[in-house]
Amino acid sequence: MKILGIESSCDETAVAVVEDGRRVLASEISSQIPIHTLYGGVVPEIASRAHLEAISNLTDRVLAVCPDYDAIAVTAYPGLIGALLVGVGFAKGLAYATQKPLIPVHHLRGHVAAAYLCHETLEPPFTAMVVSGGHTMILDVPDYTTFSILGGTRDDAAGEAFDKVARVIGLGYPGGPKVQKAAETGNPDAIPFPKVHFKENPYDFSFSGVKTAVINYVHNAEQKGEAIPKADVAASFSKAVCEILTEKALLAATAQGHGKLVLAGGVAANATLRAMLENACNQHKISLYLPTLAMCGDNAAMIAAQGYYEALAGHYATLDLNAEAVRPISVG
Ligand code: KG4
Ligand code: ZN
Repeated sequence: MKILGIESSCDETAVAVVEDGRRVLASEISSQIPIHTLYGGVVPEIASRAHLEAISNLTDRVLAVCPDYDAIAVTAYPGLIGALLVGVGFAKGLAYATQKPLIPVHHLRGHVAAAYLCHETLEPPFTAMVVSGGHTMILDVPDYTTFSILGGTRDDAAGEAFDKVARVIGLGYPGGPKVQKAAETGNPDAIPFPKVHFKENPYDFSFSGVKTAVINYVHNAEQKGEAIPKADVAASFSKAVCEILTEKALLAATAQGHGKLVLAGGVAANATLRAMLENACNQHKISLYLPTLAMCGDNAAMIAAQGYYEALAGHYATLDLNAEAVRPISVG
């Protein structure tokens, strides 16, 4: 079964065709990074307009490579509402015109499904950690369309913290890759930033404390007229965040006992996080499934991949499908 996937939840417009949830036949992405860089972050209204400008051409390019498909999967939630509406509206129009079935896909389920495109033999059950710009959560995934949340962030998402720290130390947007680059030449032990644990739920995260600690550190240095050691701040912050992510993911994977840990989302591209998880999983004999760098960020192939499994489960939508800015992954 060939699924045409459409993604427009944030700052990438993307269209792809994937066969049987595993083989990418065509994939196109148009990034809005150059547009939003001007403003230091994603401007929702501008994002919506840019999606609208890009979506038809991207679809034409994908259909030129792969004209035949059986159903249309679209990211319907969660995300920037105006941005989501562009993809959902376009997908509904296409479904109506072609009389093909429409499959709504939860964006974070899509991120998890990126693992199926990178690891041919991977199948649920597994433990997954999704670390993106808007979400940080640890999940039990017993089958392709069941997601139970073991824990999540109580305030900022990990990617959001990377983006804010990048802004505070003057690295700009997009923050994650810039903090990683700066961290390469810094000392991760230079500044002891705090790590938060919750007694009631060992799988919950909080990143606002470490973010505030970075802000205070930078303000202090500025008040004293000292230069900010950007590389050391970036490396120490990255270490604090990645250590806590690694610790909790390992704790969950060990407790769940599936022996498999899937990492997903934009922050999965982070080199420090990948290295720490590889090391920890090796030690605990857990198989780690990392997405390729291209599959970490938003793309439509992952939406088409999850769309395939949603279709197998009969999760189709009618043409009154609406986008939703917020929706739990467990609801789907
Ligand atoms: O999954 P994604 O592409 O979009 C959302 O669904 O949110 O994630 C984007 C997030 C941004 O916060 C970005 O700064 C972060 O992923 N990110 C990284 C890296 N590359 C992207 N964070 C840390 N290190 C990276 N190398
Ligand atoms: Zn995403």
